[in-house]
Amino acid sequence: MTTTAPAASTASAGTTAITNIAALVTNDPSLGDGTPIGLIQDAAVVIDGDRVAWVGESSKAPATDNAVDAGGRAVIPGFVDSHSHLVFAGDRTQEFNARMSGRAYSAGGIRTTVAATRAATDAQLDANVARYLAEALRQGTTTMETKSGYGLTVEDEARALRIAREHTDEVTYLGAHIVPPDHADDPAAYVDLVTGPMLDACAPYARWIDVFCEEGAFDGDQARAILTAGRAKGLIPRVHANQLSYGPGVRLAVELGAASADHCTRLTDADVDALAHGSTVATLLPGAEFSTRADWPDARRLLDAGAIVALSTDCNPGSSFTSSMPFCVALAVRDMGLTPDEAVWSATAGGAAALRRSDVGRLAPGARADLALLDAPSHVHLAYRPGVPLVSAVWRRGRRVH
Ligand code: NIG
Ligand code: FE
Repeated sequence: MTTTAPAASTASAGTTAITNIAALVTNDPSLGDGTPIGLIQDAAVVIDGDRVAWVGESSKAPATDNAVDAGGRAVIPGFVDSHSHLVFAGDRTQEFNARMSGRAYSAGGIRTTVAATRAATDAQLDANVARYLAEALRQGTTTMETKSGYGLTVEDEARALRIAREHTDEVTYLGAHIVPPDHADDPAAYVDLVTGPMLDACAPYARWIDVFCEEGAFDGDQARAILTAGRAKGLIPRVHANQLSYGPGVRLAVELGAASADHCTRLTDADVDALAHGSTVATLLPGAEFSTRADWPDARRLLDAGAIVALSTDCNPGSSFTSSMPFCVALAVRDMGLTPDEAVWSATAGGAAALRRSDVGRLAPGARADLALLDAPSHVHLAYRPGVPLVSAVWRRGRRVH
């Protein structure tokens, strides 16, 4: 992530060893205990510049210019949050309140945020993005994707992406979030806009293109047209799929070689099979099920079938107003069938896979020195101690930023 460096940012000249780590999650199976999370006990990490130079047993660590004593606590790779919607204004407290009094969630609430976002200044939107990225960073997130989708005019979508691009490289064009009220009578004309002038204005700022493929948003044919047009402009597809209802989103994502199908809450056996045999990552967003009181996605079923599972916050003011990856890890363990090891892997290496990144989400020589020190002896405590602020220090690109 190229988030704006926080004021507290500090850098040490030369190499730095973080020693006396009780449990180090590397996510490199060739290191440590041979499990997918590559756990090393009594470990050290050596940082050189913005990269990891060495990991291993603390007693074998090479000499360095600086040393930090982890005090017998755990270190994990910085979280990779591959799905958020941070360019917005206003909030939807009333909608949440109504939902917790029994009202159902629907895609329609997005319109409230579109109106507030269109009315906001650039400076207000920029400050919001910075605020939520900083909030996430304090909770261990060192890479964060974010989307447009609350502008839904050519100018407002391009503005959202331009602002997002100032903060992160992982920017997604989501002009196809819903059909906005101004196009309610002619959805086809809106798809033409999204695949034409809006795409032209947005593509220079984005790496990814996304569609909310859902009842009340865009159907399979519209999603296919939008993702195909984006791909022709060099954007890589990812899809909001199968959240509120069964539908074509997941299979379309796999067919088009999307990096990720996100939500995956309502899956048929054919959907699971497609994810298990394709290269598309299944990104699960437990904050959305929590905040909409919906059924949980079945992470166990996906993993047992052979799919790659990522965990992400979906941070947005409507369906999941959390920036906390530790919270998502705890939910995934408690309610979605993942073990603590699997959940931590999905929130780090899984997110990296969903963003097609090999430089983050792992701590091995050559990887980016993005890591979180936990105020706990083990990464398992992220699920065992839900709601407790366990992230006590964060390094990004080798700099201590929290
Ligand atoms: O991922 N699915 C569409 N977008 C968001 C919801 C956005 C909103 O309700 O404002 C999501 O859940
Ligand atoms: Fe989303």
